[in-house]
Amino acid sequence: MIIIIDFGSQYTQLIARRIREIGVYCEIFYWDIPNIQEKINEFSPNGFILSGSVESSTKINSPYISESIFSSKLPILGICYGMQILALQLGGKVEKSKYREFGEAKLEIIRKSLLFPNNIQDKFNNKGNPILDVWMSHDDTVTSIPKGFSLIAKTQMCPLAVIEHTEKKIYGVQFHPEVTHTIKGKNILSQFVLEICQCQISWTPPKIIENLMQFISNKIEKKEQVILGLSGGIDSLVTAMLLNKIIGERLICIFIDNGLLYTNDTKKIVKIFSEKYKLNIKHILAEDIFLQNLTGISDPEEKRKVIGRTFINIFEEQALKYPYVKWLAQGTIYSDLIESGIESGNESNFSLRKKNIIKSHHNVGGLPKNMKMQLIEPLKNLFKDEVRKIGLDLGLPYDVVYQHPFPGPGIGIRIIGEIKKEYCNILRHVDRIFIEELKNANLYSKIGQAFSIFLPVRSVGIMGDERKYNWVVALRAVDTTDFMTAKVVKLPYDFLSYVSNRIINEVRSISRIVYDITSKPPSTIEWE
Ligand code: XMP
Repeated sequence: MIIIIDFGSQYTQLIARRIREIGVYCEIFYWDIPNIQEKINEFSPNGFILSGSVESSTKINSPYISESIFSSKLPILGICYGMQILALQLGGKVEKSKYREFGEAKLEIIRKSLLFPNNIQDKFNNKGNPILDVWMSHDDTVTSIPKGFSLIAKTQMCPLAVIEHTEKKIYGVQFHPEVTHTIKGKNILSQFVLEICQCQISWTPPKIIENLMQFISNKIEKKEQVILGLSGGIDSLVTAMLLNKIIGERLICIFIDNGLLYTNDTKKIVKIFSEKYKLNIKHILAEDIFLQNLTGISDPEEKRKVIGRTFINIFEEQALKYPYVKWLAQGTIYSDLIESGIESGNESNFSLRKKNIIKSHHNVGGLPKNMKMQLIEPLKNLFKDEVRKIGLDLGLPYDVVYQHPFPGPGIGIRIIGEIKKEYCNILRHVDRIFIEELKNANLYSKIGQAFSIFLPVRSVGIMGDERKYNWVVALRAVDTTDFMTAKVVKLPYDFLSYVSNRIINEVRSISRIVYDITSKPPSTIEWE
C-alpha cells in the first residue's frame, strides 16, 4: 500500500482516489499524526506521496516531513508543497515566485526519468523534447535543488518543475498529477506506485468485500444487534447489505421519513428494500419532529447539526427497544470524513485540516459524547465510486447503484434558509418534473448529479392576464466523477425551456426558474 501524507491540500483526497483506481490501496495520514513510526511499521507501505498544502514552506512552523519517512528509505513522491518541503528539508531552497502560476502549463521533459514512461508526451516541441499538459497551482517555487537530485522537467514559469534523486527514488513534481486537467496524471501516478514502488494491483471489488466482511465479523460478536439508518441512498444500502450477509435479522434497519426526502411515498421504498434485499426494516414517520427542531434555523451548518442530532435521538430511542443493541451502523464514506476535517481512525487529530473545513457532513462529528451505542462504519475508508462498484458486486441493480447521490440532510440543504413544509412540498414537485424530464431525454445517466433548489424570494410573473408574485427555484446539473470538482452540464436550451414550462404550468407557486451555471470550484455542488 501507499501512505499519502496530507499537508492540508483540498486535492489530497483526489490523490488517494487515483491510487485506488489504479488498484492499489492507500490511506491518508496527516503530516503530524502521532506515532508515525508505529503506523509505518503497522502498514508496511511500499512508498509515500506527499500532498500539496495551503501553507507556505517559506514560513516558520510550516508542516514538515517526519524523519521516519526519510529513514524508511522507501520511494517518495512530493507534489507541489510536498516537493517544496522535500527540497527544503534535503538542503534545497524555496522562495515565493515572482508570478503566481495557476492553471494549465506545458511541461517540457528535458531528462529521462522512470516517472515518465515512454510515449507519455502529449506532443514534442521543436527541440524534440516531450511536452505534457499539466495543471499548476502555486505561489512558492523551488529555486535550488538539493544535492544528489537532477532536474527532469520545467515549464516556462517554473524552471525547476520536476526533480529526482534516482538512487533514493525520491521525486518532486510542482504540478498536480492527481487532477484530471493533467491529462497524463494517472499514468504518472501509476508509474510511481507500480514501477517505482513495486505495488501489486490487488484493490479490487471482491477483495474489498472480503476485507469488509472480515472487518464486520471481527467487530460484532454473537447475539449483538446493530441499528442502521437506511436513507434510501447507496452508501447506507451497501452498508446494510454487507451487515445483513453476516448478522441477518440482528441488523435492524431504521428508515426515518424526516419530511426532507424526495418522495412522499416512503412506504414503497421500504417495501422494495425489505422484499428485494431481505432487510429487516422499521419505518418511522418523523416529519413533525424534524420540522419542529428546524424551526427558526437558517444557518446551513446549524441545520446540518440539528438534522444529524435528530436522527441520532431517534436511533437511540429505538435502540432501547432491542435487548442486545450495541452498535449504530452508518454509511459514512471516506470523503464525508475528509471534507468534514476528520481523518479516519484518527478523529482527535485534525489540527491542520480543521482550518480548511468546507462543510461538515451531517453524519460526521455530530454524535453525542455520551451515546450508548458504538459506531460501526464499514465504508469509512472507501470512495463513492468504490462503494458503487461493490454495490454492483453485491447484486444491486445498476439504476439503484448509479442513482444520483442524495445528501443525508436531504432537501434541508436545498431550501435556502429556514425550512418549511410548504417549501419542501414545492421543491419535491419541481424536482420530480426535472428528474423525470432528464430521464425522458436520456440525460439522467450522463449527469453526475442534478437537482433543484428552493429560493425563498418572490418574483413577479404573469400568467394569462394574471399577475403572479411567487417563488423562485434554481435547477442545477453537474458533471463529476468524484464530487470534489464538478463542471456545469450544458443542458440544451430547448430542454431547459421545456422543463421550465412544465414547472411553471404544474407548480402553481413558482413564478421564475433559473439555471445555475457555476462549477465547483468556485461554488460547491449543493447551495448550502
Ligand atoms: P458539495 O456541496 O460539498 O457536495 O460540493 C459534494 C457531494 O456531497 C454531497 N453532500 C452531502 N452529503 N451530507 C451528505 O451525506 C451532507 O451534509 C452533504 N453535503 C453535500 C452533495 O450532494 C454532493 O454529492
